[in-house]
Amino acid sequence: MKKVLFRPSKLKIFLLLFSLLTLPQFYAQDNEPEVEDGPKTIEAVPDADPVKGKELFNSLCAACHKPYRKAVGPALHGITERRDLDWIQKWTINSRELIDSGDSQAVAIYEEYNRQAMPAFPQLSNEDVNDIVAYVEQPKPEPSGGKKDDSEDREIAGGGGVSTDVILGILAFVFLMLLVILFLVNKTLRRFAEANNVELYKKKEKSKPIWVAFAENQFLVLVSVVVVLLMVAYGGYGYLMQVGVDQGYEPIQPIHYSHKIHAGENEIECKYCHSSARKSKHSGIPSLNVCMNCHKQINEVAEETGNDEYSKEFYDNEIQKLYEATGWDPDTQSYTGETKPVKWVRIHNLPDYAYFNHAQHVTVGQIECQTCHGPVEEMEILYQYSPLTMGWCINCHRETEVKMADNPYYEKIHEELSKKYGVDKLTAAEMGGLECGKCHY
Ligand code: HEC
Ligand code: HEC
Ligand code: HEC
Ligand code: HEC
Ligand code: HEC
Ligand code: HEC
Repeated sequence: MKKVLFRPSKLKIFLLLFSLLTLPQFYAQDNEPEVEDGPKTIEAVPDADPVKGKELFNSLCAACHKPYRKAVGPALHGITERRDLDWIQKWTINSRELIDSGDSQAVAIYEEYNRQAMPAFPQLSNEDVNDIVAYVEQPKPEPSGGKKDDSEDREIAGGGGVSTDVILGILAFVFLMLLVILFLVNKTLRRFAEANNVELYKKKEKSKPIWVAFAENQFLVLVSVVVVLLMVAYGGYGYLMQVGVDQGYEPIQPIHYSHKIHAGENEIECKYCHSSARKSKHSGIPSLNVCMNCHKQINEVAEETGNDEYSKEFYDNEIQKLYEATGWDPDTQSYTGETKPVKWVRIHNLPDYAYFNHAQHVTVGQIECQTCHGPVEEMEILYQYSPLTMGWCINCHRETEVKMADNPYYEKIHEELSKKYGVDKLTAAEMGGLECGKCHY
């Protein structure tokens, strides 16, 4: 009797354990980002190549057209529903000719857009135009929550890994399973006791609370210990990874300020805003007065600045935030006096016991900002590019030669070195760049 009753439960526990081990994998698989589909063929132009079309579109048409949004010219997505392919080819290669020929559709769109002439593209063949059409007719990509997910483009090492959500999910699942197991064990014990002797069962219930039963079951204890150890290992690992390595850290800033638009597209020099990088330890973040040098005039972005991720309205609203912070009233072109400080979230941060000096590297060492901060002029949202660990500093000191030729800081030393020792090249490490005291107070 005893055995018969106990066996199915053991089986149940085994099954549970089995699912416990396998299910998280299914869960994790579900969470893997879906592989993006390649370009789709478009019915109207089945043989065309949307990849080539994208290149042509970006180099020739993107200045005035957006696929899914009206810009200088109309949105081109859905063009094959409005026009014949033949018409599109003629229009693109020479729109003037088509308008002059009196084509009613051509004249109508020309009038609608205030008689703006679209340039002719005699260099394009009909096939090229088909390629462009195939590109603009691609289905619109799903919006990714307003924020560009450029994590794949980044060149940071050691990124990736399992997302916290997945791990939390697995942990939650494991706990749920534990609960179920406990419940089943409890039930089994009861049934076991009941089957033997009700009296005993009643006594047992008093003398043997659930946690005692649990402690007596070596198997369950083992499972729990393993789970707890896993959790500690995960937590500990996560904590250790944070020490020093915040590579890729990309906080949300109070104003969406784009380095790509300012330092990239508008080619504003880094030092215009981070002026102290040249002469002091810190680079510093510019005060809002620096922004207002330009933004008293610039209260909106150009139409073309909006990309598929952020609209013009979004950007214009961010400039409004700058006005609210500085108390600038663009209508009266004066300050109201009501200001709100903007608290930029600091991204790069060495621990207090480490000493780093910008001037030493930028002015004396003549190192480009990008060597350490990465392609800032392409970052829509700024992120930490380098690991900023001690190993990172030291590696570079070992590898980088001090630029002594034509460097006013080293004229004297350079002369002496080459005269006395015949040395012409020195790495930062040989200059003392590995001495603990140089970087640690
Ligand atoms: C200098 C700006 C400019 C460039 C560059 C440009 N277009 Fe246009 N396009 C326009 C304007 C403006 C219109 C609206 C009609 C007009 O005013 O001529 C238009 C209209 C069109 C139309 C007709 C849309 C409709 O709804 O009927 C097509 C198709 C088109 N363009 C395709 C292209 C392609 C393909 C390219 C690149 C090879 C291109 N355009 C480059 C400005 C431009
Ligand atoms: C080129 C600069 C540089 C030199 C030289 C240097 N350190 Fe460091 N050290 C750092 C930086 C930067 C950090 C902070 C790294 C971080 O946040 O992970 C650091 C961190 C540390 C830590 C904290 C543990 C850790 O890894 O986070 C210790 C301990 C340490 N350094 C000891 C030394 C000793 C001992 C020497 C001399 C042999 C030395 N350092 C030389 C830059 C340097
Ligand atoms: C028009 C002003 C302006 C220009 C030009 C500019 N920046 Fe910035 N920079 C800012 C502002 C504002 C922040 C703070 C907000 C943010 O992090 O995005 C910042 C933040 C940074 C940070 C992160 C600071 C931190 O918190 O650790 C780095 C690094 C940086 N800029 C580098 C550069 C480099 C390199 C260039 C040139 C390619 C450049 N910046 C050009 C205004 C500017
Ligand atoms: C040298 C001139 C200049 C300075 C200084 C400047 N900006 Fe801009 N900013 C521009 C221009 C030009 C645009 C519009 C870009 C376009 O239309 O392509 C712009 C656009 C913007 C936008 C909308 C696009 C975006 O980046 O989100 C914001 C917000 C903005 N600026 C904030 C700031 C802040 C904050 C500062 C100070 C840290 C600043 N700007 C300093 C010239 C400047
Ligand atoms: C040799 C590497 C290196 C170079 C070159 C470099 N930086 Fe940095 N930058 C750092 C480090 C490391 C930090 C973190 C400093 C700290 O926390 O004390 C930092 C921090 C910053 C910050 C945050 C504020 C601050 O001063 O701590 C800004 C802004 C910045 N850098 C801009 C620049 C600009 C602009 C240039 C080019 C003119 C530049 N950096 C060149 C390594 C570098
Ligand atoms: C991209 C290469 C590079 C990186 C990364 C770098 N350094 Fe340097 N560092 C140099 C060069 C080159 C010099 C020599 C500059 C000079 O004096 O001509 C130097 C000099 C120094 C000096 C002065 C050494 C002396 O002999 O006086 C200190 C201190 C220093 N670095 C600290 C750091 C710390 C701290 C870090 C990391 C947070 C770091 N550096 C990261 C290239 C680098």
